[in-house]
Amino acid sequence: MENSIRIFAPATVANVACGFDILGFALENPGDEIIIKKKDKPGITIFNTTPYKGIPLKAEDNTIGVAMQTYLSHIASDTGFEVTITKKIKPGSGIGSSAASAAAGVFGANMLLDQPLKKEELVQFAMHGERVACGSAHADNVAPAILGGFVLVRSYSPLDVIRLDFPEDLFIAIIHPQIEVKTEDARKVLRTEIQLKDAVKQWGNIAGLVAGLARKDYSLIARSLEDVIIEPVRSLLIPGYEKVKRAAIDAGALGCSISGSGPSVFALCQTQEIAHNASIAMEKEFANLEIDSVIYNSKINLEGVQIAE
Ligand code: HSE
Repeated sequence: MENSIRIFAPATVANVACGFDILGFALENPGDEIIIKKKDKPGITIFNTTPYKGIPLKAEDNTIGVAMQTYLSHIASDTGFEVTITKKIKPGSGIGSSAASAAAGVFGANMLLDQPLKKEELVQFAMHGERVACGSAHADNVAPAILGGFVLVRSYSPLDVIRLDFPEDLFIAIIHPQIEVKTEDARKVLRTEIQLKDAVKQWGNIAGLVAGLARKDYSLIARSLEDVIIEPVRSLLIPGYEKVKRAAIDAGALGCSISGSGPSVFALCQTQEIAHNASIAMEKEFANLEIDSVIYNSKINLEGVQIAE
């Protein structure tokens, strides 16, 4: 049995406009790389080799540490692990940085212990890592980070995660403006009550998006990529948001919204060329405000977390 393993865990886009906390998909890039080694003694030791400061190294404060410990308690194992994090997804970017790490941690431990649990069963443990990162154990990043593809969290209690059918030729344009929005802060600004008329609109859009993805109906997908509840509040945290969104849609994107809690913005596109044009158009709008940004263009990742090649 192996004693050490290198894992790749992908970035993810959560919410996907209308599906706050319930919809997400995985990207082919970027992703985090984590090396996990079995130790002789119990306990999780964490090393960070990335330039990103402020990543807690105490296991009980770290997303990976908490996710792995929850998993180990569940399977009643006291195996110890040494974890070396090479983060390529910047924390606070809105593309599932903490989720990728948590996914890698539980997947790696499960592999090194000869897979007592199935991949689908790992989501419930990785979620606990999110609680440390932002105060809420949402699964719309960890579920696609683990399973790949486009995922619906139908229910949290009990956890019910559904893989959705989707057109595999979809391309995603991501623009990451170099400002930081902490998920914890972006959750605090949300209203806790919504109007029934807004809920009705949102339900229609979620169902429309799921149906559009299954039928490969691009016009229905485009009509459904609308968020009347979360985006109007959170877009205020992203300078120039309305212009960035308009630029992506004018460049031919099916739709555009905030990725997770932001500040990254995603656009769903029918071709690689449209995704390229949309990302350049979005970058220009941020540049007009003297905000640098990083572009990621990618298809939807079908595998999720995996052993690194
Ligand atoms: N659903 C979460 C939120 C995702 O929007 O707060 C965070 O990436």
